[in-house]
Amino acid sequence: MTRPCRSRSAISALALAAFLLTLAAAIGGCTADQEANRPMPVDSVYSPGTPYTTDVPYVATPQKVVERMLEMADVGEDDVVYDLGSGDGRMVITAAQQYGARGVGIEIVPELVEQSRSYARLAGVTDRVDFYRANLFDTDLSEATVLSIYLLPEVIDKLLPKIRREMDPGDRVVSHNYGDTIWPPDRSERLGPDHVIHLWTIRDSTSVPLPPTSTSTDEPDTGPSGR
Ligand SMILES: C[S@@+](CC[C@H](N)C(=O)[O-])C[C@H]1O[C@@H](n2cnc3c(N)ncnc32)[C@H](O)[C@@H]1O
Repeated sequence: MTRPCRSRSAISALALAAFLLTLAAAIGGCTADQEANRPMPVDSVYSPGTPYTTDVPYVATPQKVVERMLEMADVGEDDVVYDLGSGDGRMVITAAQQYGARGVGIEIVPELVEQSRSYARLAGVTDRVDFYRANLFDTDLSEATVLSIYLLPEVIDKLLPKIRREMDPGDRVVSHNYGDTIWPPDRSERLGPDHVIHLWTIRDSTSVPLPPTSTSTDEPDTGPSGR
């Protein structure tokens, strides 16, 4: 008669330990990245209550456009796909689930970050994707081999110096609907009346233009001839 009692208390102890571990992770802000020893792409992660303003409203990219964007960027197992302003996480989750890539989503709206994490759990890709509640302008892009964006032109304009500084030759940038007016794409493809995908492959840092308004300390854009 004592055995069931012992196993009940063992289960309770396990449950308590699991709860305490979860609590410690939440209080300490421990992320899957830290557990897996992956680099943190942002210096500051917003806590759930931090107030915020968005630079772009939330509009989801339709799934068929998501898949075409990943195909155009030729995403594969060796890629690390970053989505700046990742919404419900669909780009990063699809990159992991269907193309075997690793993915990082940066999103400022806390509810969308929570939704992304729960979709990632449902899709079974939590070992390959990470979502951070952070400002996209605070993100270090050096690890990204593919950058996905669905952002307004003025926001892309402000990101150009960062892309130029932190991304490498051979890396790709893929954008839903915007960016072509400030950076001529290598390739564009229309999907129906409402969607166009633009793709850029970085050749060298000078192939990414600096916006005319840039106050960056980057070298001036001298163009391909270097003059
Ligand atoms: C047009 S939606 C694109 C969502 C997703 N990438 C997709 O294609 O389905 C832009 C997203 O950027 C987020 N966002 C806006 N300003 C941001 C900022 N400063 N930092 C991080 N995310 C931001 C919005 O909350 C929104 O989810």
